[in-house]
Amino acid sequence: MSVEVPTQWRSVLPHLGHELPPDRSPETGSGEAVQANLPLELVRQSISAREYWPIPEPVVEAYRKFRPTPLWRATGFERAIGARVPVYLKYEGGNISGSHKLNTALAQAHYYARAGVKELVTGTGAGQWGTALAAACALFGLRCTVFMVGSSLRRKPYRGVLMTMLGAEVHSSPTDLTRVGRDDDGNRGNSLSLAIGEAVEYARAKDGAAFSIGSGETYSILHQSVIGMEAQQQLAALEADVDAVVGAVGAGSNFGGIALPFHAEAAATGARAPLLVAAESSTTPKLTRGVYAYDRTDATGTSPLEAMYTIGSDYVIPDSHSAGLRFHAAAKVVSAMRHAGQVEATAVSQAEALEAGRLLTVHEATLPAPESGHALAAAAKLATTGADDLRAERGVLVCVSGHGYLDLGAYQQFLDGELDDVAPDGGALSAAMSGLKSVPGARAGDLVGVGRPS
Ligand SMILES: Cc1ncc(COP(=O)(O)O)c(C=O)c1O
Repeated sequence: MSVEVPTQWRSVLPHLGHELPPDRSPETGSGEAVQANLPLELVRQSISAREYWPIPEPVVEAYRKFRPTPLWRATGFERAIGARVPVYLKYEGGNISGSHKLNTALAQAHYYARAGVKELVTGTGAGQWGTALAAACALFGLRCTVFMVGSSLRRKPYRGVLMTMLGAEVHSSPTDLTRVGRDDDGNRGNSLSLAIGEAVEYARAKDGAAFSIGSGETYSILHQSVIGMEAQQQLAALEADVDAVVGAVGAGSNFGGIALPFHAEAAATGARAPLLVAAESSTTPKLTRGVYAYDRTDATGTSPLEAMYTIGSDYVIPDSHSAGLRFHAAAKVVSAMRHAGQVEATAVSQAEALEAGRLLTVHEATLPAPESGHALAAAAKLATTGADDLRAERGVLVCVSGHGYLDLGAYQQFLDGELDDVAPDGGALSAAMSGLKSVPGARAGDLVGVGRPS
């Protein structure tokens, strides 16, 4: 059976069985609010109950440059961890951006260009998203400006070089180009929400420019469904069966991309869905220690408030090598599914993630990004002892969301025993979460420091 590049995206929205709580206005905290300047198609993809969306031909053509992406059974990794069940890897690191982010960047660049936008502006943490958007803008003839979290840019200067080579203008955030950047008192710890806040403000002030975001938005999760849909074809071709699907969670598009097509398929056919396990960083534990509440998605305070699992947008996230996971909240779709018990979550430390990455390097000849290491560590637990009370009984599919060639500094620190893992202290978390508005209808207790859905 040959594996085809999908020509349609698959939405999970018609299969949720519950409504997503509407966004709220940041001024009043009430009423519906939508992001300004969003191309109509992206708005439709965020709210419509339509299941299949034809992928525009120029985007399919661009996908064909690097899709289908490989999927294989990781027999060497299985032996190394003593797996009880097969582990399958879906590898998204083999494109110019080095991660899954290009799947939505191409779609967004296409829709924005068609809507007459001339420049896309964004914030990026690890740099994969900025690189993806720069590459997509280059292919679709748009200018691109990227605000990259300063600590991350200093650690990975070659990301900046690559974005510049792709024609983007790159700024180390915080900058003095924006009020959000100038007002920063240094206490936000170089967060991604600050870089995003700068990009939002910068784009608003510039004619012909629009802000574009890589993850978290419902449409970006839709675009990432190509990962899970391809994996379904590939597993079928191998006659493989999995009862757990794992992805790392920054804002949620990588996890959503690999996992949610499995929810949709199970709901459509009446089958039992596999365990869908979101692997987050223990430094940013929104799904395991956060609350389900309305919160900001960036530091401007002007974007709509969204119902999400969050540790509070004011929480200062400790610096870590998994910059792509340092986002304070999880996408509203992923959060609503977690609240409904359709998604599971587990937190992984940097050391566990990098050890899983080391094992993949040695035993599968594949060097994963530290972010992907979180998913691999979670998958390894599911396939062996279990992660918390989660266990796979037939097989595990895990998304290797990106490559780690620009993260060798992190591996070096790990090998030298110089990693210090800081898990948030309960008091600091509670303080950052206090004052958030509850989601109507959410279970009692969801605003008092959470936990897993029962
Ligand atoms: C390699 C890699 N994996 C995973 C993530 C997290 O992705 P998402 O924001 O889609 O959850 C990122 C984000 O930058 C990343 O770069």
